[in-house]
Amino acid sequence: MTLRSVVIGTGSALPRQVVTNAELAERVDTSDEWIVERTGISTRYIAAPDETTSSLATDAGRKAIEAAGIEASSIDLIVLATATPDQTFPATATIVQSNLGCRGGIAFDVAAVCSGFLYAVGVADSMLRTGMAKRALVIGAETFSRILDWEDRATCVLFGDGAGAIVLEAQEQTGENPRGVLVTRLHADGAHNQLLYVDGGPSTTGTVGKLRMKGREVFRHAVVNLAEVLREVLDDAGLATTDLDWLVPHQANARILDATARKLSMPSEKVVMTVGQHANTSAASVPLALDQAVRDGRIQPGQLVMLEAMGGGFTWGACLVRM
Ligand code: UT7
Repeated sequence: MTLRSVVIGTGSALPRQVVTNAELAERVDTSDEWIVERTGISTRYIAAPDETTSSLATDAGRKAIEAAGIEASSIDLIVLATATPDQTFPATATIVQSNLGCRGGIAFDVAAVCSGFLYAVGVADSMLRTGMAKRALVIGAETFSRILDWEDRATCVLFGDGAGAIVLEAQEQTGENPRGVLVTRLHADGAHNQLLYVDGGPSTTGTVGKLRMKGREVFRHAVVNLAEVLREVLDDAGLATTDLDWLVPHQANARILDATARKLSMPSEKVVMTVGQHANTSAASVPLALDQAVRDGRIQPGQLVMLEAMGGGFTWGACLVRM
């Protein structure tokens, strides 16, 4: 028998307002044609002032808890991945904890930007398997629209807001095909911390700052790093690409998704792609895509799903889960 962190529910939330490429073209020098061709993005959701990272995270968390069929009060660990917290402190996870009516457990944020959800799953899984908690709510939630430079066409067209969540439960698993998180591999290379960053912060400028990115260089590293970490996880699990039912990648750019899938020889029908509607929602993108594919019936219990992401830092990682 092995203690595993099993996904017992998923949920997600999007802001009310959808913004099209054509609407962005009224604000900056861009076009629907350029954005679709270079990124695959057609629309993104943008948070109104009353929609915050914690409110989106709470909605996504509540839906995941409902899907799991459990009481919110039974959650004893909340790990929330975000680069756009409501406030510098307290952790947004504690605001979500209060909103959901969970008390007394552990709640904290993880900052690994677009890879944040993968890092959060890695941390929650370790804590569940060592007995520090029994039921974890793992959330990726962002309001990147608040840190975009709306004059910079090279970045403002790429991102959107949203949240996704899963409930992980520590369960003894027996048999040949145990459910749960099977392998997680995380990496960071801080030498590249100036290729994708925010030009402000409490300890430097005392301001929130705006997102800055050298897009072409990030793209190049993303394809290489993601292909490597996916191989690493498959090798650790003793599996081949053909064993996977689904790849749920970070939704940064349809061209990165296609290139990564091609390097892995993964057919495009098995790749969950939501970047067209959601754009890049940073830490929210993987759980948002996962929830969409669970709710529309594509991802079924017992199937093998690979999650992956790469983001600022650089940070990157992948995680193999049997649903
Ligand atoms: O979340 C994880 C991290 N982020 C990523 O993974 C993003 C990685 N990078 C990318 O997805 C792509 O590099 C971008 C989508 C950001 C850019 O695509 P690209 O094919 O690498 O274009 P580029 O940066 O090489 O720019 C090509 C041209 C430039 O014009 P010149 O210098 O050739 O005259 C840009 O100024 O496209 C221009 N451009 C635009 N044109 C119209 C840049 N942004 C826009 C725009 N509309 N929005």
